[in-house]
Amino acid sequence: MPENVTLLYSGDVVGEPGRRAIRQLVGPLRNRHRVDFCVVNGENAAGGSGITPKIFQELRDAGADVVTSGDHVWDNKEILPLVGVESRLLRAANFPPRVAGAGSVIVEIPSGAKLAVLNLMGRTFMRNLDCPFRVAEREVERLRAETPLILVDMHAETTSEKIALGRFLDGRVTAVLGSHTHVQTADERIFPGGTAFLCDAGMTGPHESILGREIQPIIERFLTQMPQRFEVARQGIRFNGALLRADPSTGKALSIERLNLPLE
Ligand SMILES: [Fe+2]
Ligand SMILES: [Fe+2]
Repeated sequence: MPENVTLLYSGDVVGEPGRRAIRQLVGPLRNRHRVDFCVVNGENAAGGSGITPKIFQELRDAGADVVTSGDHVWDNKEILPLVGVESRLLRAANFPPRVAGAGSVIVEIPSGAKLAVLNLMGRTFMRNLDCPFRVAEREVERLRAETPLILVDMHAETTSEKIALGRFLDGRVTAVLGSHTHVQTADERIFPGGTAFLCDAGMTGPHESILGREIQPIIERFLTQMPQRFEVARQGIRFNGALLRADPSTGKALSIERLNLPLE
């Protein structure tokens, strides 16, 4: 069995500034930490909303092995032809059954081990998808028949739903990493069963912002309730994510380190 595997994850990548951080930081991070596999959440990579085939390729070229997504996955319709064709682009597994695309993928990493990535979406304050817990149970059982190394991107609004999913899957997956809120939490830990957890990995993008968008139009929206254009902000670019080590024979996490790195 190969040695421990190292996984790199990035939370929601926002717009061009977020993609610049991925282009400039993922390569060096991969080298420095001997990363075997990198997962990037690309749901906001195209101008803050959705993703396009060209941007998917840009993230891949920058070192992302699999691109996950969330509620904004369909915002840019250019992506639709790629959904279901490109297996390394995931949408949440708990969309209704006849929705195009897949919510999980198994990829062989260079060391020879297989890594599964499963993308789920929460339901609290979000869309009314199928139950992420029941879908996770079914999907994890299917994936574990192939590999114990499973990384789950739980794209959800509330801390409780994410922690509940992490506890529910403890001992059955390598990691449950949260995305969607664009705000990194400081609760990284390994649960008793060996599942690494981080409630939200945060946002790779401009942090001198409100969740990646220019500050003033959002304040104006709250003050007046009038529609505003929410441009992607430009300043304070940071990479937000996590670095994990895991035992490929058991799938258990050995360490989790939260990453919050400036671009410069
Ligand atoms: Fe997002
Ligand atoms: Fe989202």
